[in-house]
Amino acid sequence: MTTQATRAVITAEGLTKRYGSLRAVDDVNLHVYESEIFGILGPNGAGKTTTLEMIEGLRHPDAGTASVAGFDVASQVDQVKSRIGIQLQTTSLFDHLTVAELVGLFASLYGADDSSATVRRLLGLVSLQEKSDDQADTLSGGQKQRLSIALSLVNDPEIVFLDEPTTGLDPQARRNLWDLIRDIRADGKTIVLTTHYMEEAEVLCDRIAVMDHGRIILCDTPERLIAGLNGASTISATFGDTVPEPAALSELAGVQDVQLDGSRVTLQTDDMRRSMAGLLDLAEARTLELDKLTTSRPTLEDVFLHYTGRALRE
Ligand SMILES: Nc1ncnc2c1ncn2[C@@H]1O[C@H](COP(=O)(O)OP(=O)(O)OP(=O)(O)O)[C@@H](O)[C@H]1O
Ligand SMILES: [Mg+2]
Repeated sequence: MTTQATRAVITAEGLTKRYGSLRAVDDVNLHVYESEIFGILGPNGAGKTTTLEMIEGLRHPDAGTASVAGFDVASQVDQVKSRIGIQLQTTSLFDHLTVAELVGLFASLYGADDSSATVRRLLGLVSLQEKSDDQADTLSGGQKQRLSIALSLVNDPEIVFLDEPTTGLDPQARRNLWDLIRDIRADGKTIVLTTHYMEEAEVLCDRIAVMDHGRIILCDTPERLIAGLNGASTISATFGDTVPEPAALSELAGVQDVQLDGSRVTLQTDDMRRSMAGLLDLAEARTLELDKLTTSRPTLEDVFLHYTGRALRE
């Protein structure tokens, strides 16, 4: 989904962080708009966490500025802090206290409403009501992630930062967390998250900044990033005894490239619908037997590969 909100709630200009000769973050500019789910996608060491921490005001940039909710993160720290929620990753927090006690403790640390009604509401939001009285360190990985998200919400922030919220979760737990993140956005909050999962970025985020070696190399909606490849989709067809000749296939509408491998034909097309219709017509007209037909669209993985020359997965 694409939101067309125009109010930038986060602005970063020229953010740079060096460690010795390494430019961990190198001249990062970005805008995050109200009520969007904004993803920073990149491989390990790309600079995602460092960028996030500079925007949160937790790490001082060597150069550049950031503002959050209209406040400068360097000079208006308190105003920024009261408007943001940060998902903490450390698990040592989870010792000994019950789930409800932890949420109450965090709320009181923030000077926020720590009443049992509020604690219940927050635990309801992350579907942990039934775990209220369990010790936090007995929760599963996915439940701990949800708890840490509840903790990030105790001060009813406008903007929530989630650093790799779904890393290490199984696919089902990951999907549950996507739903939770969408719920939080539906509640009117803006979400900035990091991930190195392509699929997550593609299905969850309204816009994505693709990061590599400290730089943002692309920033747009997943749809436009993919469309920007001028992207050949792929049709793969396996024929029975007779395979149409390459010339007939390359004349089909939209087809850019034809490859034959035995009885299998692979077509690259920039017009999936028309190429597919043409292929089916051709098979029909010549009474060719089509054993197998599959299609695939380009993905963010292809986008990353195209712009960096590498696959994102290690
Ligand atoms: N305190 C530090 N001192 C020295 N180098 C650092 C420090 N923090 C980060 N780096 C380096 O900066 C680069 C970016 O790190 P960062 O943690 O921002 O990456 P990331 O994109 O969050 O990676 P990951 O996906 O593994 O979390 C890395 O090369 C890292 O080793
Ligand atoms: Mg990181």
